[in-house]
Amino acid sequence: MRPVTVRAPAKINLQLSVGVRRDDGYHDLATVFQAVSLYDEVTATPARRLGITVAGDDVAGVPLDETNLAARAVIALSERVALSPDVHLHLRKGIPAAGGMAGGSADAAAALVACDALWGLRLDRAELLDIAAGLGSDVPFALVGGTAIGMGRGERLMPALSRGTYHWVVAFADEGLPTPGVYAELDRLRAGRKLANPAELQVSEPLMTALLAGDAAALGGVLANDMQAAACNLRPQLRLTLDVGREYGALGAIVSGSGPTCAFLARDQEHALDLAVALSASGVCRSVKRAHGPVHGARVVED
Ligand code: C5P
Repeated sequence: MRPVTVRAPAKINLQLSVGVRRDDGYHDLATVFQAVSLYDEVTATPARRLGITVAGDDVAGVPLDETNLAARAVIALSERVALSPDVHLHLRKGIPAAGGMAGGSADAAAALVACDALWGLRLDRAELLDIAAGLGSDVPFALVGGTAIGMGRGERLMPALSRGTYHWVVAFADEGLPTPGVYAELDRLRAGRKLANPAELQVSEPLMTALLAGDAAALGGVLANDMQAAACNLRPQLRLTLDVGREYGALGAIVSGSGPTCAFLARDQEHALDLAVALSASGVCRSVKRAHGPVHGARVVED
């Protein structure tokens, strides 16, 4: 069995509408995901037992045991097909950890696709999606990529029609934010307020129209994230980061998912470069990268 390497993308939520906290602790969502060209790569190699190593710029805090979502993905897959999870996973991280871009979910999706290929399983898409949904709310999207609507806790996907390529700049913060903490802060901010019931959580029509038309300016105007206020409360610096992007003409400026990464929609590639330079020079964030979307979900990298 030869090692298999799979590449999986980060995501940006173009819309993230959050409902009330459910009895199971999750929140109902209406979200629109776009997969963007920041990737993690996972190489699965046959081994005596399950093991994990990680490389990349920002890997402190990434667990190297069975609590890592990629390891949990291998275990879940092996249980489904009654095999031992005897593989070594090597993660090369290009997506910031705890950054709100679903890096851990990308690793899990990549590990599923890699072991499916390594073990010659050829499970169908529906079965992989089912395992993915059991691992985390964002794992199914990392498998499919592109542009998709997510409902439920984010795991119930429908494809969304989108035209053209969008150019983004993403600004990373010094330290990650734990997703459950940001949801808890959102609940605190909303305490006592009446919220839409899950049936009223809807995807924005203007957003879908902008995507269908490939209209970046219109899309920039309707980007929306309910988690943003909570993330900015926990990390006030993010407001400055968003302001710098707006000052330099970003079509839209949002916190990505639960943050603390901020995402800026640029007019085109050249504008993305200008924005990236301005954000780097401003000193309001740790580092900056450019990305485009939509891109494919988790896929085997051919040698
Ligand atoms: O599904 P995942 O493991 O990525 O979620 C991590 C945490 O984020 C959950 O334990 C929950 O606290 C919060 N969450 C939520 N509602 C969602 C998704 C995640 O409250 N729709």
